[in-house]
Amino acid sequence: MNQSSFSRRTLLKTAGGILVTGGLAHASNLMPRDIDLQKNSKDLIFRSTEPRNGEPELAKLVQSWQTPTELFYVRSHAPNPTINPKEFRLKVEGLVRQPISLSLDELRRLPEKTTTATLTCAGNRRSEYNGPEYEDVPKVGGVQWEGGTIGNATWAGTLLANVLKQAEVTEGAKHVWFEGLDRIPKNGQTIGFGGSIPIEKAMHDAGNGAPLLTHTMNGAALTPDHGYPLRMVVPGYIGARSVKWLGKIVVSDRPSPNHYVATAYKIVKKTTPLDWSESGPIYRFPINAAICTPKPHTQLAAGEVELTGYALPSGRSGSSIKDVLISADEGRTWTRGEMTGKTQDFCWQLWKAKVKINPTTKTLVLRASDSAGGFMPARVPWNAKGYLRNSWYRLPIDAG
Ligand code: MTE
Repeated sequence: MNQSSFSRRTLLKTAGGILVTGGLAHASNLMPRDIDLQKNSKDLIFRSTEPRNGEPELAKLVQSWQTPTELFYVRSHAPNPTINPKEFRLKVEGLVRQPISLSLDELRRLPEKTTTATLTCAGNRRSEYNGPEYEDVPKVGGVQWEGGTIGNATWAGTLLANVLKQAEVTEGAKHVWFEGLDRIPKNGQTIGFGGSIPIEKAMHDAGNGAPLLTHTMNGAALTPDHGYPLRMVVPGYIGARSVKWLGKIVVSDRPSPNHYVATAYKIVKKTTPLDWSESGPIYRFPINAAICTPKPHTQLAAGEVELTGYALPSGRSGSSIKDVLISADEGRTWTRGEMTGKTQDFCWQLWKAKVKINPTTKTLVLRASDSAGGFMPARVPWNAKGYLRNSWYRLPIDAG
C-alpha cells in the first residue's frame, strides 16, 4: 500500500465499509493495491448485509484452487469499521518486556512472508443441523450457512512470531489474544471481536502453519470485508481465530476473556454460564468436505454422473486428504474420487468423481479421510450453536 496516496484522499463510510476516494482524478498515481481496495465487490449469496455475511455458490467456489477475493466468504459480527490507515497502530502488550506500537508503514517494512491457507468458519454447514435428522432437539440459530464458508487464499504479511520475539515475551506466557477494532453490541456493551491462540501456535515461525499478521490477500490490500488494514491469519484454526481489523495483541497466561473466546465458538449442549465455562475454546478445524456440483435436486438421467467438490484435511501440519469416497446407495458401496488442483499443507484439496446412479437413487453421500487419522463421521452430535458440522455430506438428487 502506498501511504502517500492515502494522505491525498478522504475516507468515506459506505454500506460495504470504507471507501477511499478523492484522488481519482490522478488515477495514474494509484497503486494497483489502492484500486483493488475500492472494489470490495463480492459475488456471494448474502445471508445478511448489516453486518455482511455471505457465502459463494458452491459451483463457483470450486472453479479454482485459489479462491478469488470476490468469491471468498465474509463472516462479520458488526458492520465494517472505518479505519484511518494514517492513524492506525498495532499495539502489542501484556506479558512482554518491550510493549510495541507499530504503524502500517512499520509493519510493511518487516520481513514479508506469503502463505496460501484455507480459512473456514466453525459454522460452515450449520443449516444442516436444522435438517430432518435433528427433529427432537431445539432449532440452531445464527447465520444459516450452507457449505460455502470456506476459501483458500494467498496471504502476505509478517510472522506473528517475529513481532512477539521483538516484544520479548516473558515467562508464564501461555496465550496470545487478538482484539478487533470493530464495534459489536453485546449484552448492553460495545465490544471488539476477540480471538486467542495458545503461545506454541503463536510462536510457530516455519512452514505454512505459521500465524501471519496479514495486510495483503491474493496480491492486493485486504478489502474492508476481510479486515483492512490488518488481520490475523491462523492456518489450521477455525476462522474465528483469524481476527480482522486487528488493533491489539495481548500476551497472557490465560485465554482471552472476550465473548468470542469465552462464551462462543465452543461445543455446548446448553448455553448456561456453567456449560460455557466447562467447555474449552475450539482451535483446530476438523476434516470436512462437500459436493459442490451438481446442485441439490438436479434432474439426472440414470448412468454415470460427474461430481466435483472440496475436501479440507484437519488443521494439522502434514495432514493431507487420503480418500474422498462417494456412495449412491446409502453407504453400501463407495466410489473413490480423484484429487485435482494442488496438495499443500493447511490448504483444501479439490476433487472430482464419476459415480453410477440408477432411477431410484435419491441421495449421493460423501465422506473423506486424511493422513492424520481424521475422518468424517456418519453423524455428528447436535450442539447448541451449530458448530463443526462435518458428518457425511448428503446431496439430494432427482434421478430418472
Ligand atoms: N474479526 C473481527 N474483528 N470481527 C469478526 O466478526 N469474524 C471471524 C473472523 N474474524 C470476525 C473476525 C469469523 S467467525 C470468521 S469465520 C472469519 O473472520 C471470517 O473471515 P472472512 O470474513 O475474511 O472470510
